[in-house]
Amino acid sequence: MRVLVTGGAGYIGSHTTLALLEAGHDVLVVDDLSNSSEESLRRVTELTGRTPGFVKANVRDEAALDAAFAGFTPDAVIHFAGWKAVGESTQIPLTYYRENLGSTFTLLEAMAKHGCHRIVFSSSATVYGDMSEPPFTEDAPTGATNPYGRTKHMIEQILQDVAAADPSLTVGVLRYFNPIGAHESGRIGEDPKGIPNNLLPFVAQVAAGRREKLMIFGDDYPTPDGTGTRDYIHVVDLAAGHLAALGKLAEASGYHVWNLGTGNPTSVLDIVKAFEKASGITIPYQIVARRPGDVASSYADPTKANAELGWSARLTIDDACADAYRWQSSNPNGFADA
Ligand code: UD1
Repeated sequence: MRVLVTGGAGYIGSHTTLALLEAGHDVLVVDDLSNSSEESLRRVTELTGRTPGFVKANVRDEAALDAAFAGFTPDAVIHFAGWKAVGESTQIPLTYYRENLGSTFTLLEAMAKHGCHRIVFSSSATVYGDMSEPPFTEDAPTGATNPYGRTKHMIEQILQDVAAADPSLTVGVLRYFNPIGAHESGRIGEDPKGIPNNLLPFVAQVAAGRREKLMIFGDDYPTPDGTGTRDYIHVVDLAAGHLAALGKLAEASGYHVWNLGTGNPTSVLDIVKAFEKASGITIPYQIVARRPGDVASSYADPTKANAELGWSARLTIDDACADAYRWQSSNPNGFADA
């Protein structure tokens, strides 16, 4: 299959590009490198012995996208590209709406023009917000509590409308829980710019000596140890979920939503312990106030993806911590070390 991957140089995008190439698919990455590095794609080539095509462009760039579709004639698209920091999205909401919605419009128009009828979209468990109790099934109520989350929620609705209007279009929305870990080679991984917002990269940087200590945001949640619980899923399992979804869409029609999670809640303190075990390094931490907007607990009911995609998460939190530590310790400054 020929797969056009937007945002394919990023964290989840690069792991999925690698999995696609390993499975024998041809890949064209469209990425403006605004929050990623072309070095990730060089390493994907090193790991797979295959080279993905690459176009450096913003997905909103109609001319660039048109040329990419005309030259590559993709059978399917995976749409990762997007801005993804919750806090930042409350500061510059217009940028989030312009980039995340605008890129989706340009992409859907290019697909229609060039006769590409299959799309997998990166959504987020953030759409479950705090409206119901986990484990979340795909038919739980959805909404959003910040501009980033609203872009994901809006794009889901847009895709549903577009699929309803065009019976030839097949859409798979993947709601990711919390992706962590890295490829087992330690050659590609998560490379956040500035101070990491997310737990795992922050813990990894504390282990590497780049940050003094972890701030744990609250220990008075109604969870077994008082810290927030999440459904952490290894990025390699997540990448495999995209291949399963692409395969399913080849034989399906219409609009589909699947949770990609393990179904297991893990606390912040459990993650600290797992990372200490994987690295042999003590992670200093301090309990501080809850982070505004955080929920106590979020985890998937992955039954639908398990049954319909024939996919389930295989790797453990210990695997993810070992792989994240391998990536962090061999690339202390991420791809900038290359
Ligand atoms: C966050 C976003 C979510 C987004 C996802 C994508 C928020 C409120 N939510 O999810 O919308 O889809 O990232 O990556 O930002 N924690 C600490 N100390 C830290 C960092 C995190 O204690 O320095 C805790 C959090 O309170 C939470 C857990 O670790 O309990 C996971 O946090 P994080 O990695 O930021 O993910 P989410 O908040 O679940």
